[in-house]
Amino acid sequence: MRHWPLTQLTLTTPELVLRVPDDDQLDELAQVATDGVVPPGTVYFPQPWASGTPEQTARNVLQNHWWARGDWREDNWRLLLAVLHDGQVIGQQNLSARDFRITREARTGFWLGRRFQGRGFGTQMRGAALHLAFTCLGADRITSTAYADNGASRRVSEKFDYEPNGIRRLAVGECLVEAREAVLTADRWRKKKQVPTLIQGFDECRDMFGVPLTPDPVDVVLHV
Ligand SMILES: CC(C)(COP(=O)(O)OP(=O)(O)OC[C@H]1O[C@@H](n2cnc3c(N)ncnc32)[C@H](O)[C@@H]1OP(=O)(O)O)[C@@H](O)C(=O)NCCC(=O)NCCS
Repeated sequence: MRHWPLTQLTLTTPELVLRVPDDDQLDELAQVATDGVVPPGTVYFPQPWASGTPEQTARNVLQNHWWARGDWREDNWRLLLAVLHDGQVIGQQNLSARDFRITREARTGFWLGRRFQGRGFGTQMRGAALHLAFTCLGADRITSTAYADNGASRRVSEKFDYEPNGIRRLAVGECLVEAREAVLTADRWRKKKQVPTLIQGFDECRDMFGVPLTPDPVDVVLHV
């Protein structure tokens, strides 16, 4: 799409491709969510978008993408990427920030259809988002928030050497839930083993993130 340059952004890891979904891919993503994202009876997100009926869950996915596109601003953006494995949509990776030009801080979120979980994809997805954030956008810090009982999400952060950054108490329905935030600085990220990621099409959409042009435009960033 010529006038929405985010559609040219592609992140490629050894097993995955991450990109803004076209309409067919977005429909596939909604379908993946209908098969289940969280274990029955659990809520791993502040908005329980994946805890209703399959129809509600699918529409939540679609509306979330449309809202994020419609509400996109240089000083408040939410990049929602579909994750593809062997050409099949399997989940979603988010990278979002408010006032990034000043704060140089962004946050990630991610989910996979249940049948795709526990196969190392989440680690690659997060790794790709971290590459985009630290190498292309020039982030200083990336945060991730997970409920205390979300072992898989917290373990992915641990693998990238995040540090604890506080606990928040939330009400989910009638239940008290602890959300644990973790933070990864650019310095720590550089020292730790990284996921090889090829990033294409960033220069075309750089201005949408409110990031000034650097002297060396980055068409392709490859770190192995
Ligand atoms: C969170 C999620 C995206 C992670 O993706 P994934 O592909 O399952 O993650 P990976 O396989 O790359 O890595 C998961 C790690 O957590 C570990 N793990 C899994 N369940 C765990 C648990 N209950 N307690 C502790 N560690 C656990 C795995 O062993 C693995 O670590 P390892 O590589 O050292 O063996 C995926 O599980 C998911 O979609 N969960 C439901 C939605 C969700 O919770 N999203 C995040 C909200 S904060």
